[in-house]
Amino acid sequence: MNTAMPFLRKIFIKTYGCQMNAHDSERLAAMLRTFGHEIVDCEDDADVYILNTCSVRERAEIKAVGKSRYLSRKKLRKNNALLGIVGCMAENLAENLFKLNPGIDFIIGPRRISELPAILAGENVGRVALLGEAHSEDAGESARDFSSAKICASVSIMQGCNMRCSYCIVPKTRGPESYRPMDSIIAECETLVQNGTKEITLLGQIVNNYGQGVLEYGSGKSPFVQLLERIDDIAGLERIRYMSPHPKGFREDLIEAHSSLSKLCPSVHLPIQSGSDRVLRAMRRPYTRARILSIVESLRAAVPNIALTTDVIVGYPGEREEDFSMTVDLLNAVKFNMAFVFKYSPRAGTLSASLPDDVGADEKDRRNKILLDMVQKCSIGHNETMIGHGVEVLVEGHAKRGENKLCGRTRGGDKVIFDGQDRLIGQLVNVKIMDSAITILRGKLIEI
Ligand code: SAH
Ligand code: SF4
Ligand code: F3S
Repeated sequence: MNTAMPFLRKIFIKTYGCQMNAHDSERLAAMLRTFGHEIVDCEDDADVYILNTCSVRERAEIKAVGKSRYLSRKKLRKNNALLGIVGCMAENLAENLFKLNPGIDFIIGPRRISELPAILAGENVGRVALLGEAHSEDAGESARDFSSAKICASVSIMQGCNMRCSYCIVPKTRGPESYRPMDSIIAECETLVQNGTKEITLLGQIVNNYGQGVLEYGSGKSPFVQLLERIDDIAGLERIRYMSPHPKGFREDLIEAHSSLSKLCPSVHLPIQSGSDRVLRAMRRPYTRARILSIVESLRAAVPNIALTTDVIVGYPGEREEDFSMTVDLLNAVKFNMAFVFKYSPRAGTLSASLPDDVGADEKDRRNKILLDMVQKCSIGHNETMIGHGVEVLVEGHAKRGENKLCGRTRGGDKVIFDGQDRLIGQLVNVKIMDSAITILRGKLIEI
């Protein structure tokens, strides 16, 4: 604890956006705790409000700006309270945020959040904006509170993104790619496992790009696959996942890793965005629908029941009915276990923002509904095939509802709820699936 700290605060952090942001919030909370601050769950108890924000679609920004206005009114009723916007929207809207909401005290981009404790050190914070360039040590540093290591933990392996997908704001908000040294990632994973973690999800905007141009290929294996191999060797770790890979770098070595590494879970989130080669080209996604089909075929040949999920955008500028049909067609051909469908949202500063947003709101809605309906049918169909089967579940904790109900996930990532005692939390158990709904499976513990 820093005894020189004049002000110990009660800090409320609300997180929007992706797993990367959730992970940053965890890191931020751990850092603030080491400076003696308290992290509170309820905004009413706080004297510092922090919103860790997302810019990926307009709606995400509207929500966060709305919440910031609400909190700045709350702030007025408290002495010395502070309101800060951190994360991707801070970077994207920068000083304009002070105009949108004069109640904001500080804005900090995702590459600068480790500087927040220093800002809170003074009584008079004043207006602060920390944006842009990452500190190089940020890529290697991973402040985290190992004493409260989770059963399922995320580990960030890289920052930023070097791709220029035409619609995407992330390269602007998170900057260019930088990779953590492999030894530092391994050390973090080992310490997590020593503290009780059983499942690790490796995080990055494009994880299979890890180490490209910096670390060597070895025996034809990419740095990412080498990293997976080393993590697979950690005794006591049960499962490895990663999020998200890009179809561009999804090569034979990674497919082969899925059959050779026992801890690597049979589940892959492979964002396709569209099934039309014309739209993929316009989006600057460097692959074709044929390539997606061939990756899926190879993955299924290597791991027959692999769970596949994806992201799709509907209503990209110029997306015609026949392009949309190609997406429907590709989803039908692959039968993903689950897909996240997004309506195209123009983001200022991206390449596609200069194109007319010419698929009307109603048409975007229609295409969105058609895909959601397909996805739902696929999920229900998949969940029904699980009924009667015994599955391995890593027990993560109590289910949200129901006494003595525990919940966990299968190796494929399906959520399972079943009756069981607290001592099973953190354990691998066998569960027979009895029943299913759209997003969960219900089962019965198989006693051994
Ligand atoms: N790095 C990941 C995606 C990160 S953003 C990848 O390349 O797959 C998460 C998802 O948000 C994307 O996969 C995309 O489907 C969606 N998305 C990104 N920008 C968007 C926009 N402008 N409008 C709608 N959806 C968008
Ligand atoms: Fe965005 Fe494309 Fe980078 Fe993913 S790969 S974060 S969609 S620019
Ligand atoms: Fe994630 Fe949103 Fe930023 S999706 S990387 S928090 S723009």
